[in-house]
Amino acid sequence: DENTRISRVKGAITAIQDFPKPGVLFRDIFPLFKDPAVLSDAVSLMVEHIKDKIGSVDVIVGLEARGFLFGPMMSVQLGCSFVPIRKKGKLPGKCVQASYLLEYGTDIMEAQAEAIKPGQKVVIVDDLIATGGTMSAAVELISKMEGRVVECLVLIELLDLKGVAKLKHPFFSVLQF
Ligand code: PRP
Ligand code: ADE
Repeated sequence: DENTRISRVKGAITAIQDFPKPGVLFRDIFPLFKDPAVLSDAVSLMVEHIKDKIGSVDVIVGLEARGFLFGPMMSVQLGCSFVPIRKKGKLPGKCVQASYLLEYGTDIMEAQAEAIKPGQKVVIVDDLIATGGTMSAAVELISKMEGRVVECLVLIELLDLKGVAKLKHPFFSVLQF
């Protein structure tokens, strides 16, 4: 059942102390990619959430880099578009930007200006939410393009960091640490 699949996925995620910096407990998703059955569980849990709770979606937006691992697999199953949000300077043509906070200073993320049409129903997908800075900047970017953010969806939520408090749109995480 669903809880069994969540436990299998959660059990495959490893924790590394002090990576990439002292004090950070890094949650590594790549072990779950070694086993196609576990990867399939992770993708199906996210896809089923959308089918059951959201319904029809026009666009899955994936956040660089680890949102790119899940987003396209989901869009194929949902029969919708996939659109990437990348760190600035990587996408050709006219782009829309949003800035976001890092530990020191700020960075800029971009999407191609024509990638989302006004009124389209968008689900933003990433592997993990920590402080929520990345996800809230993505929401701002989609809103600038007049997309309708119907869900912010992640596989993993780090509860201590309370990133969800930064979001004004519906949010769902498959599993929590
Ligand atoms: C990680 C993760 C999220 C973000 C979450 O990406 O994949 O995108 O951090 O952190 P936040 O909620 O505090 O903003 P990272 O910035 O490490 O980039 P990467 O995916 O390119 O490795
Ligand atoms: N991105 C931000 N914080 C993270 C963490 N603790 N583990 C993995 N990815 C992250």
